[in-house]
Amino acid sequence: MSFLLRSICFLFVLNILNTFASPTRHLCRPEEKNALLEFVSEFEIRNLDDDVFSSFSYPKTNSWSNKSDCCSWDGIMCHAKSGEVVELDLSSSCFHGKLSSKSSLFKLQRLRVLNFAYNDLGSFEIPSQLGTLKELTLLNLSNTLSSGPIPTELLHLTKLVSLDLSSNSLSAQKSFLNNLSQNLTNLEELNLGLVDISSEIPPNISKLSSLKSLSLDDCNLFGKLPSSLFRIPTMQSINLQGNQDMVGSLPEFNRNNSLVFLDLSWISLGNLPVSINNLKHLTTLRLGFCNLHEQISSSLGNLTNLSSLDLSSNFFNGHIPSSFGNLLHLTSLVLSYNRLSGQIPPSFANLNQLTTLSLVSNKLSGNFPLPLLNLTKLSELSLVNNHFTGTLPPNISALCNLETFEASENIFTGTLSSTLFNTPSLTYIDLKDNQLNAILEFGNISSPSKLERLSLGNNHFKGSLPISISSLVNLYSLDLSYYNTGMSVDFGFLSQLKGLIDLDISYINTTNIVDLSTIFLHLKSLSSLQLSGVHVSTAKMGLVSNLPTNLGTLHLSGCGITEFPKFLKNLQKMSHLDLSDNKIKGDVPHWLWNHLPMLAVLNLRNNSFTGLERYSNDSSRLELSVLDLSSNAFQGPLFDPPVSTEALLVSNNNFTGKIPESICEQRYLQTLDLSNNSFTGSIPQCLKNLNSYLSFLNLHHNQLNGSIPEIFTNAADLVSIDVSQNRLVGKLPRSLKSCTSLEVLNVRSNGIDDTFPFWLNTLPELKVIVLRNNNFKGPLHRHHPFGFPKLQIIDVSNNGFNGTLPSDYFSDWNMTRREDRSGVIYIRYNDYYHDSMQSQEPEAEEAEEEEGVLSWTAAAIALAPGVILGLTIGHILVTQKTHWFMRFLA
Ligand SMILES: *[C@@H]1O[C@H](CO)[C@@H](O)[C@H](O)[C@H]1NC(C)=O
Ligand SMILES: *[C@@H]1O[C@H](CO)[C@@H](O)[C@H](O)[C@H]1NC(C)=O
Ligand SMILES: *[C@@H]1O[C@H](CO)[C@@H](O)[C@H](O)[C@H]1NC(C)=O
Ligand SMILES: *[C@@H]1O[C@H](CO)[C@@H](O)[C@H](O)[C@H]1NC(C)=O
Ligand SMILES: *[C@@H]1O[C@H](CO)[C@@H](O)[C@H](O)[C@H]1NC(C)=O
Ligand SMILES: *[C@@H]1O[C@H](CO)[C@@H](O)[C@H](O)[C@H]1NC(C)=O
Ligand SMILES: *[C@@H]1O[C@H](CO)[C@@H](O)[C@H](O)[C@H]1NC(C)=O
Ligand SMILES: *[C@@H]1O[C@H](CO)[C@@H](O)[C@H](O)[C@H]1NC(C)=O
Ligand SMILES: *[C@@H]1O[C@H](CO)[C@@H](O)[C@H](O)[C@H]1NC(C)=O
Repeated sequence: MSFLLRSICFLFVLNILNTFASPTRHLCRPEEKNALLEFVSEFEIRNLDDDVFSSFSYPKTNSWSNKSDCCSWDGIMCHAKSGEVVELDLSSSCFHGKLSSKSSLFKLQRLRVLNFAYNDLGSFEIPSQLGTLKELTLLNLSNTLSSGPIPTELLHLTKLVSLDLSSNSLSAQKSFLNNLSQNLTNLEELNLGLVDISSEIPPNISKLSSLKSLSLDDCNLFGKLPSSLFRIPTMQSINLQGNQDMVGSLPEFNRNNSLVFLDLSWISLGNLPVSINNLKHLTTLRLGFCNLHEQISSSLGNLTNLSSLDLSSNFFNGHIPSSFGNLLHLTSLVLSYNRLSGQIPPSFANLNQLTTLSLVSNKLSGNFPLPLLNLTKLSELSLVNNHFTGTLPPNISALCNLETFEASENIFTGTLSSTLFNTPSLTYIDLKDNQLNAILEFGNISSPSKLERLSLGNNHFKGSLPISISSLVNLYSLDLSYYNTGMSVDFGFLSQLKGLIDLDISYINTTNIVDLSTIFLHLKSLSSLQLSGVHVSTAKMGLVSNLPTNLGTLHLSGCGITEFPKFLKNLQKMSHLDLSDNKIKGDVPHWLWNHLPMLAVLNLRNNSFTGLERYSNDSSRLELSVLDLSSNAFQGPLFDPPVSTEALLVSNNNFTGKIPESICEQRYLQTLDLSNNSFTGSIPQCLKNLNSYLSFLNLHHNQLNGSIPEIFTNAADLVSIDVSQNRLVGKLPRSLKSCTSLEVLNVRSNGIDDTFPFWLNTLPELKVIVLRNNNFKGPLHRHHPFGFPKLQIIDVSNNGFNGTLPSDYFSDWNMTRREDRSGVIYIRYNDYYHDSMQSQEPEAEEAEEEEGVLSWTAAAIALAPGVILGLTIGHILVTQKTHWFMRFLA
């Protein structure tokens, strides 16, 4: 064959090969090409810099040109024979604009696959015309910033195998899931995460008999978890996380269950069936916030394919099962916020794939769990808030991939091994609130440390501050508070840490006066500085030209300051300023209100301020929310605080005159404490206007007279009322009955003339009633139920009550629901009840804070000074002179 002939032959073969190898070539239909180009022109294709999802986007349509074959364009697939466009995958392609009902998209009637995920459809609704693309098997509009209702026409797409509308602001009709289960029976994947469905999951969901993956997370679903869901034989992945109003129980699982992924977090389940150990294929199990009780079943140790297990925020007690050591594939184990006790089982040494272990807020005890030192892949270890004791192991650096090590709020002693700081991966160490008491050394930090946050505050470290800290050049947050140096400290070493943003050296024990200017000189990036409890000099501050201009938080409480620091004038980002417990005299300077526009929290408590210089509340200051001027020497009438104020605390001054009616215009007030002043007149009727937010009202120890007005009709948020030690008369206002959040009512030492307020006995939260020293009279006892479901302290002494108390008077009291308690519990009592009511003996550990409110676990009653009844569980204990209650009586 001649060369020419061979070449022709070769070209011919090549041509045939080409035709077969890429059959879509030259097949693009002109009308579809035009439709596609028109479709693109309906949108703005954004630059990557402007795209919302830019981190993984790229504009696929850049390759689209009128000159080339549309079947070869990026994101397009055409039918092999007909050349019709059947797949359009434009996910993450920087589209921005509205998908209109007249879009050229709807000319592509043969589309089977439409993926438009991660484009910005500009908060518009999804057009119902999508329902005309009858051939669709896959529709993906997740993360498109779409909003509004899901068009029911989508339920006409009966060929759909995969539907993803997740992560938008969509809502669905109540009947949507029911109708979907009827119509879209070919679905294998359904993701409606974050769609507001607000209905139950219908039992007929099991009609989706090919379903493999169901995600209905955060859909506002309620009602019972249908067991039919778990009977769909093909099911591999169920995500119902975040539907807080759902309840139910898991069904019994049989052995051929194919579930791989199960996330039911936030659904109240109560208990786990033992048969959960039949879910042999499970790799992810998430059951956080499921209201699970009792012990963790050791049968979970049979789920040997698990790589991620989350049982956090439940009520599990008892020990961590040692069978967890069988979960050899586990990479993440989260058991935080339970009541687990005992030690970490030795079998944990087997979990050599583990990268995350979180045991925060349990009651685990014993020494640092040595089995963990075998887990060399561990990158995140959190032991915060447990009862761990002893010293930290010197070879903790065996955890050579550790990035985050948190063990604050334990009882660790000794020091931390300097080798820890040579772990190259470490970025965060938190050991605050322990009993570490040795000398802190960082050793030779050779390789550049990645450490960014180091928190060692509130321990008992002693000796000089380790200068080598200055080699941790990547630190941005450092807490050395309460460090007991016992000597003079030169803070020059901080000058190397130029990136510090957050520095807490409060209450370090130095013998010298700390010159604030030396700290500011080098640390220009500071945004938060805590220096409370350290003797500070601001004398040289005038010389500092470059202040850290981003400083937003400055705590200089108890620093021996005698003059209002003028340099603050130049710190215009200041938002939290604490100058309490100093010796500052005179007026609060007027520039504070004008120069610090972002000031939100101002604490000047316990100084000797006498007034506010040229103050007027009509400046544009909208930020101030907390103003504490308590324990100063203010006199005269009360000023009008800025309208934005949420907490106004002016107790222990000598404010006089009436409580100004203007206070009733402070619509955001939550806390109003005017106690221990010399206010006269009556309680203003207009306080009624504050009802929307007011939670704490304290008018204790003034000279208020008249009766308590009916101001509580809408006071549903009021938690504590204290009007004790005034000259109030008349009856208790019956509108108190509306205070459904009320926990404390104190009217002690007035002239109130009334009978016992049995009518308050339905208030669900009422814990403390103090009626002492008034003119109450009549019986304390009635025959029908006493009520007061949460009452724990009642003081009725020095009144005119008469009659008898039957011996079973207290039997109705639900004073404690705690199961694990024995012996007497003691109560301390101060004027400001809410903050100070807590047990003070060893049992104090049990007085846990739940949702920010101390759970009071005991009850006491004072009938007359010197005769106190303290209640133990199940018994009444009469004690004549128990010192525990002395403060209660004082
Ligand atoms: C593409 O090219 C054809 C022929 O040159 C023209 O008729 C058509 O309008 C073009 N389409 C677009 C969207 O520019
Ligand atoms: C179910 O699909 C059929 C056929 O497309 C349609 O006629 C019907 O309206 C759909 N049902 C619902 C509830 O949308
Ligand atoms: C939808 O598309 C996005 C982006 O391509 C993808 O991450 C997601 O898994 C898709 N959804 C389904 C159900 O396949
Ligand atoms: C694990 O399963 C086996 C049988 O499959 C059973 O005998 C054993 O008790 C289970 N282990 C636990 C801890 O439940
Ligand atoms: C844990 O580490 C220790 C010391 O390196 C070793 O003796 C022990 O065999 C390891 N245990 C497991 C279960 O790997
Ligand atoms: C502070 O240091 C001094 C001198 O060493 C010591 O006497 C004092 O007890 C220390 N204070 C505290 C609170 O530890
Ligand atoms: C409070 O001020 C009034 C009026 O100025 C004065 O009579 C009274 O003595 C002051 N009380 C105290 C405790 O300073
Ligand atoms: C005490 O608690 C039980 C259970 O919560 C409740 O049924 C009962 O009504 C309560 N008693 C009173 C007096 O509220
Ligand atoms: C209690 O005192 C009232 C008068 O305040 C009187 O009428 C009543 O009989 C007294 N009851 C008893 C049981 O002493």
